[in-house]
Amino acid sequence: MNIKMPKDWLLIAKDTVGSTNEEAKRLAMHKAPEGVVVWAKEQTAGHGRRSRNWHSSRGNLFCSIILKPEKPLAEACQISFVATVALVEALDKLCKLKACCKWPNDVLVNGKKLSGLLLEVSGEEQSDIILGLGVNVATSPDKEVLYPATSLKKEGADVSVETVLEAFLLSFNNWYEIWKKEGFASVGKAWLSNAKGIGGKITVRLPAATLQGTFKGLDNNGALLLDIDGKTKKITAGDVFLG
Ligand code: BTN
Repeated sequence: MNIKMPKDWLLIAKDTVGSTNEEAKRLAMHKAPEGVVVWAKEQTAGHGRRSRNWHSSRGNLFCSIILKPEKPLAEACQISFVATVALVEALDKLCKLKACCKWPNDVLVNGKKLSGLLLEVSGEEQSDIILGLGVNVATSPDKEVLYPATSLKKEGADVSVETVLEAFLLSFNNWYEIWKKEGFASVGKAWLSNAKGIGGKITVRLPAATLQGTFKGLDNNGALLLDIDGKTKKITAGDVFLG
């Protein structure tokens, strides 16, 4: 299949790599432009947040995009919301699958993790953002790492990796342009309308503490607002468990 790309973007297709994020970081250090996408059929050292292993078998989607948002790093982190909103939209268009956004950067289907995102910084000036996306298309890990997982196939969507990649990239590029021009507002609204767990009890695991409270929503920058006994706490990083 010939994958349709956003205008001026470039796809680098590989068979096996260690990690598409590592490949993209290496290209960014060699001045690769915005919109270079590294896509691999399989990864031998795929990793997720907090250096966790990422299930990277053939049949799933692994890609990393080089982005040059020209915004301060704190704002550039909002790209993870841009990407989750784009993936939810792409899956709805492609296979009528109702997926949800889970803070900060996961996509769930039927309460199980379908996809994860990893944002990293690279480039000579450390101003490039590498957006790594993994989507369980054909398989998902049997052993629960942190959260139960699922795949598109298990959820009844029989689609190819190529169609998911194409649909995601086109949707991501649209939302990325909106975010660059308008900031977080529209992206945040779209994220909240597809979010899982708003108004419900959640547990947030931080490096040095575990907090429980009510998930009130997001602030203007994407921080999670957690109500604990009537006091609102802003969370900028952590693992969230719903219910
Ligand atoms: C997470 O949920 O912890 C994030 C998972 C990110 C996995 C993707 S797969 C493509 C890219 N290459 C990697 O090594 N990681 C990301």
